[in-house]
Amino acid sequence: MSDESRDDALADAGYREVPDDQGGAAARGWWDANAAEYLDEHGDFLGPADLLWCPEGVRESQARLLGDVRGARVLEVGAGAAQGTRWLRTVAGAQAVATDVSAGMLAAGARLDATAGTRTPLVQADARALPFADGSFDIVFTAFGALPFVPDVPRVHAEVLRVLRPGGRWVFAVTHPLRWAFPDDPGAGGLTATRSYFDRRPYVESAADGRVLYAEYHRTVGDHVADVVGAGFVLDGLVEPEWPPDHRRVWGGWGPVRGARLPGTLIVRAHRPPA
Ligand SMILES: C[S@@+](CC[C@H](N)C(=O)[O-])C[C@H]1O[C@@H](n2cnc3c(N)ncnc32)[C@H](O)[C@@H]1O
Repeated sequence: MSDESRDDALADAGYREVPDDQGGAAARGWWDANAAEYLDEHGDFLGPADLLWCPEGVRESQARLLGDVRGARVLEVGAGAAQGTRWLRTVAGAQAVATDVSAGMLAAGARLDATAGTRTPLVQADARALPFADGSFDIVFTAFGALPFVPDVPRVHAEVLRVLRPGGRWVFAVTHPLRWAFPDDPGAGGLTATRSYFDRRPYVESAADGRVLYAEYHRTVGDHVADVVGAGFVLDGLVEPEWPPDHRRVWGGWGPVRGARLPGTLIVRAHRPPA
């Protein structure tokens, strides 16, 4: 079937197993198609040049989860429109590069550069196959990029370990795994667990012909720790940002109602062992 005649309308959504190759390949097309909508909705909160870790509003300028970045070689994976990399380069003094699997998200990043008069290195790459030499970076990070959308997370960790120098840092934010037990509703409807936390089936959206349009994968906290340690990293800490009492903004299933009771984000900090 030609691309022109494909019907990409959503026909089915739910939690079900799909072949790994189909689930892992879906992100590129979905983020290409939805880049504009994502940035229309969240662009002002993300800012054109800022490293926002999560809907709770944790910003790197305050949290310093990456440590000392001045002069450091930094890689962002699943960078979207590269707001974090742009901030690292223009404000924090790092030598940062942004990568993302979606050309649509990177094109949005290029438009932000054109408006701001900045030049952010934007490289299209799947986080499971990074086009960089071994040991090229001091720090690798992502805020909600890549990891939730691949069935084979150990491949991402292996690539990150490879491109980091010994002693280099790996910091990533994902939806807090506990959230998978609750409906994706920022209001009171999202406060009652309706699914098992231990059900690892991905959330999948598909077209009428069965093609996978979107797949998002769940891992428990224990799974994340096992993946990170199993890849050869040293785990430095787990951060569960609390919802600030005066923070009213709703982002998808995140908001003040659930934020008052449940964690929304898990940030994992790790490093490659020194040589
Ligand atoms: C929720 S967005 C986050 C983007 C950005 N970090 C932000 O905070 O706005 C997820 C990003 O992950 C990217 N992504 C999904 N699968 C990927 C993969 N396998 N490799 C690299 N990027 C991927 C998507 O294209 C998308 O830009």
